[in-house]
Amino acid sequence: MNINKNTLRNLLNPFYTHIEIIDETKSTNDDLKLVAQNINEPFLLIAKSQTNGKGRNGKSFYSPKNSGIYMSLLIKQHISKIDFLKISSMVGVAVCKSINELYNVSAKIKWINDIFISDKKVAGILCESSIKNGLVDYLIIGIGINVSKMEFDDELKEIATSIENNTNLKFDKEILISKILNEFYNILINNHDFLTYYKNNFYLNNSDIEILLKNNKISGTVLDIDENCNLIVETKNGILKLNSGEISIKKSKII
Ligand code: BTN
Repeated sequence: MNINKNTLRNLLNPFYTHIEIIDETKSTNDDLKLVAQNINEPFLLIAKSQTNGKGRNGKSFYSPKNSGIYMSLLIKQHISKIDFLKISSMVGVAVCKSINELYNVSAKIKWINDIFISDKKVAGILCESSIKNGLVDYLIIGIGINVSKMEFDDELKEIATSIENNTNLKFDKEILISKILNEFYNILINNHDFLTYYKNNFYLNNSDIEILLKNNKISGTVLDIDENCNLIVETKNGILKLNSGEISIKKSKII
């Protein structure tokens, strides 16, 4: 399904000045890194497919043609003083809320910002930043969402899903993209509360989890996220406050 640039522009907040839609690339995040030094205004790059879509922690993001939304946003304004964890969580809320409100499903946010429907991942977010003189110089927010009805291979089918695998509702991609980015604008620029939505739609709440932290496996129970979006976990050695994206979390199996 095509994404129409004019339709999208009309739906989007004028804050999003530059919009490019391309057929295929390796990774929209990497493409924006190449132009980041030369562009000051927000730049939204959308690809219909990616051949080397990147996920967090060195993983890949499956990005087949016309099945999903693969987009990256470059921003330099309004972000220099915002904590990385907070901005990642804000994007997670914008994506989760948009999917829930449009499609009437029950998507949840897994810390930091994976989006799950019925225990399977439907969307992932990769935020990458460049720091200059201790401040964030630019931020690239990459968002990948499985949208259309999709069949996954054996490796993915237990852990991945798509929006349309969970609902009969369908929307043009311009509608979902603009809803997400307009929600994000309201959170980032208009200071709309996002933490309440995060907590109310928190996939890991009260869950027993296993955390892989620098090759150590730690078991614990998730208590909350705090106002800075740190994950608060109770372990047998006390309360742990996690603030790093470089960890992998698994819900423990309920026997
Ligand atoms: C994750 O699940 O760990 C994050 C996935 C992020 C995928 C998006 S798709 C658009 C952008 N370009 C990339 O290469 N990755 C992000």
